[in-house]
Amino acid sequence: MYLNPEEEKMFNGEYGDTVRKSMEILVALGDIYEAEHLVDISSAQISGVSYKTIGDAGLEYLEDLATDKTAKAKVPSTLNPAGTDLDNWKKLGFSHTFVNNQNKIVDAYGSLGISKTCTCTPYLVGNVPRFKDHVAWSESSAVTYVNSVIGARTNREGGPGALAAAICGKTPMYAYHIEENRIATHLIELEDEISKIEYGALGYIVGNDVGDGVPYFILKNKKDNKPNNNDLKSLGAALASSGAVTLYHIEGETPEYKIADYKSVPNDKIYISKLDIKEIFEKLTTSSKNKADLVCLGCPHASIEEIEEIANLVKSKKIANDLWICTSINIKASADRMNYTKIIENAGGHLVCDTCMVVAPIEDLGYETIGVNSAKAANYIPSMCGLEVIYDEVKNLIKFK
Ligand code: F3S
Repeated sequence: MYLNPEEEKMFNGEYGDTVRKSMEILVALGDIYEAEHLVDISSAQISGVSYKTIGDAGLEYLEDLATDKTAKAKVPSTLNPAGTDLDNWKKLGFSHTFVNNQNKIVDAYGSLGISKTCTCTPYLVGNVPRFKDHVAWSESSAVTYVNSVIGARTNREGGPGALAAAICGKTPMYAYHIEENRIATHLIELEDEISKIEYGALGYIVGNDVGDGVPYFILKNKKDNKPNNNDLKSLGAALASSGAVTLYHIEGETPEYKIADYKSVPNDKIYISKLDIKEIFEKLTTSSKNKADLVCLGCPHASIEEIEEIANLVKSKKIANDLWICTSINIKASADRMNYTKIIENAGGHLVCDTCMVVAPIEDLGYETIGVNSAKAANYIPSMCGLEVIYDEVKNLIKFK
């Protein structure tokens, strides 16, 4: 891969050890994927934050990088969810030892100049690239969002690759950074209108079918029932969890659908009915109980509109399950000001920041059955947490006293 003179200096260690190690990672990735050169990025989003998922090996790796005090991220960069709410961990039941290790990880990222905002929806809290910007993001649901809904360009980076890109301000130019790789590979035609809760199940079906392809959706929804940003974040999260979808297009909705060239898609046409979608709710529900111990919402992290809806549902009532709504500290600040936090807490629920039901060690908190409204969470919880799942709409999951 070609390096310009400045990149050569970075590679040769003239800017310190951490920049050198980061350039080595980028060059190795570039060689593997046959990139011809690097490209400047405008932002990074870095996974590999929860102590539950990266453990002591990950912590040591980050602390080693952070010993070089001259190395700082060159572009605005945010973190994926950590393993706990960094402020309110005690009342949620997390152990002191776990939190201690988690804080060391977040601090190491912080000393590398990465914002300590831990969220999988950075596009809701200021990490918002522009159309056609090159970026290096690694959380799969955020990757599909930024590629498909915003029209920026990223591959699905691993955590170390995204961190290296943040430190160098560059990433190898291959795959989804190149226009011709962004055309559709599969045509997905819906037979009926779909409702808000069904976007996740739809994504789960299509991700399974297309793997790492680029689906092009033709929806049947009428003008007054078009998908909003919350629907698109659910769709993308599920597409990237049952499959490895990095980019999708929706006719008339997403910014690049006109260049998606779906007419050249060979014979890969998939029809999806209401019945197909209904079956996914049954398939992903592993529990035979009708009441979850913990209802855990916000996968991907909840927007202020989603929190408002839940606040309206539970207002002046008492919830019979435990209830967590996972979000970022930034969105919680808005919810505090709008009084939604108080309404939810009065009903017995919590807004939980910085973490989520998959990367937090909820299996250590005494729960057996988790209720979720996210196909991605339903898909991952049995393997990542070893717990039973009920996958349903919020109004069916939350039980009242
Ligand atoms: Fe985000 Fe956790 Fe879901 S990282 S997309 S809330 S599994």
